[in-house]
Amino acid sequence: MSAPARLGRPRLHLRRTDSTNLRARALVLAGAPHGTLVTADEQLAGRGRQGRAWTAPAGRALLLSVVLRELPPLLALSSAVAVADVVGSRARIKWPNDVLVDGRKVAGILAEGRPQEGWAVLGIGVNVAVRPQDLAPELADRAAGLGLEASAIEPTLAVLLSALEQRLAEDPEATLEAFRARDALSGREVRWQHGEGIASGVDDDGRLVVELAGGGTAVLDAGEVHLVAPR
Ligand code: BTN
Repeated sequence: MSAPARLGRPRLHLRRTDSTNLRARALVLAGAPHGTLVTADEQLAGRGRQGRAWTAPAGRALLLSVVLRELPPLLALSSAVAVADVVGSRARIKWPNDVLVDGRKVAGILAEGRPQEGWAVLGIGVNVAVRPQDLAPELADRAAGLGLEASAIEPTLAVLLSALEQRLAEDPEATLEAFRARDALSGREVRWQHGEGIASGVDDDGRLVVELAGGGTAVLDAGEVHLVAPR
C-alpha cells in the first residue's frame, strides 16, 4: 500500500486573490500544517523570482502554493524535476527551476519562507491552458502554454501533487540525476550579474557550475543566469 498523500490537504481554493504565496504564508503564520494547499483561478499580484511579477490569464493556468514544514535539501531542484515530470519528456529545466519546452518557459517556481524556522511556501505556476494570444507581446518568444484545455488544470494539479510527494521525499542523488537529464543550460554560454562562461552542470549541492571564459570555475548558488544568444 502506498503512503497516504500529504500534500494538498487542507485546501483553500480562491477564485481571485493577490497571490497564493501570500495567502499560504498567512496560513503558515497561523499554524497551517505541512501540505496545506492554496490554489486560485486568478492572481492580481502574482509573485515571480527576483522580485518580478508573475501574470497568467484568469482560469488558464494552474496557480498553487503548498506549505512545507519538512524541507528537502534540494528544494529548488526537486520541485522543478516534479514539474518537469508532469510536463513530459520534452521538458527541460533552466537552473535553478524554470521549466521550458522548446526553449520557452511553461512553468515557474517561487519558494519563499524561513528555512531556519523549518517552513517554506512552494509556489508553482503552470501555463496549462495559456494560449499564444494570451501572452503579452514581450513574452511571446519566451513563454508558452502546454496546449491543453482549461479542464485539464485540476487533473494536472492532482498529478503534480503526486509528483511533488515523490520528488521531495527522494534521495538527493535521484533528484540530481533527473535534473541533469533535463538540464537546459549544460554546455551553453551563460551570463550573470558578475560574469559569463559555459555552464557545465550542477554540483552535488545543486549549485550551477560555470567554466569561466578566462579560465577557472564559478559556482553559483543563487540568482539568475541568462543564456547568451549565439553570435
Ligand atoms: C518565476 O518567476 O519563475 C516564479 C513564478 C512563480 C509563480 C507562482 S503562481 C502561484 C504562486 N503564487 C505566486 O504569487 N507565485 C507563485
